[in-house]
Amino acid sequence: MRTAICPGSFDPVTYGHIDIIKRASRIFDRVIVGVLVNVQKKPWFTIEERTDLLRKTVGDIPNVEIEGFDGLLVDFAAKNNANVIVKGLRAVSDFEYEFQMALTNSKLNNTIETVFLTTSSENMYLSSSIVKQVGLLGGDISPFVPECVHDEILMRINKMK
Ligand code: PNS
Repeated sequence: MRTAICPGSFDPVTYGHIDIIKRASRIFDRVIVGVLVNVQKKPWFTIEERTDLLRKTVGDIPNVEIEGFDGLLVDFAAKNNANVIVKGLRAVSDFEYEFQMALTNSKLNNTIETVFLTTSSENMYLSSSIVKQVGLLGGDISPFVPECVHDEILMRINKMK
């Protein structure tokens, strides 16, 4: 059985993430969405909130599981018998950082491969940070995130006021 990890902060999940998770679920037998517990940039959403929103949006895909993780990604992958890490590449600007992470992970554990999926063209510009910024500035975020995520972001923004 081929198990892959889709790692990220998911603060919060966007249509860009959902696209990569769905496509990974069609390639691999089992996909574990690994949600980083300790995000360096202070997250808007707790680990429970981030995993809960992922469950609401991709939890119905039969071969997808959602789990929080802390520590090294390669250790989380090995613990789950996953030998593939799936990352989405949006643009050339993503490449250098992703390349650095892939090489570091391969040095740490050379039995785990990183596979890149190019993002769908409609999600090229999308990131959780951009969505939060648009929401903060009063813009319409409904094209970027599912309804449940949209509502959570607006509630968070209202609490900040
Ligand atoms: O959604 P993000 O914030 O771009 O995801 C980054 C993530 C979670 C993939 C990355 O921060 C990560 O793998 N963190 C785990 C720590 C680790 O293994 N570091 C060494 C590899 S560079």
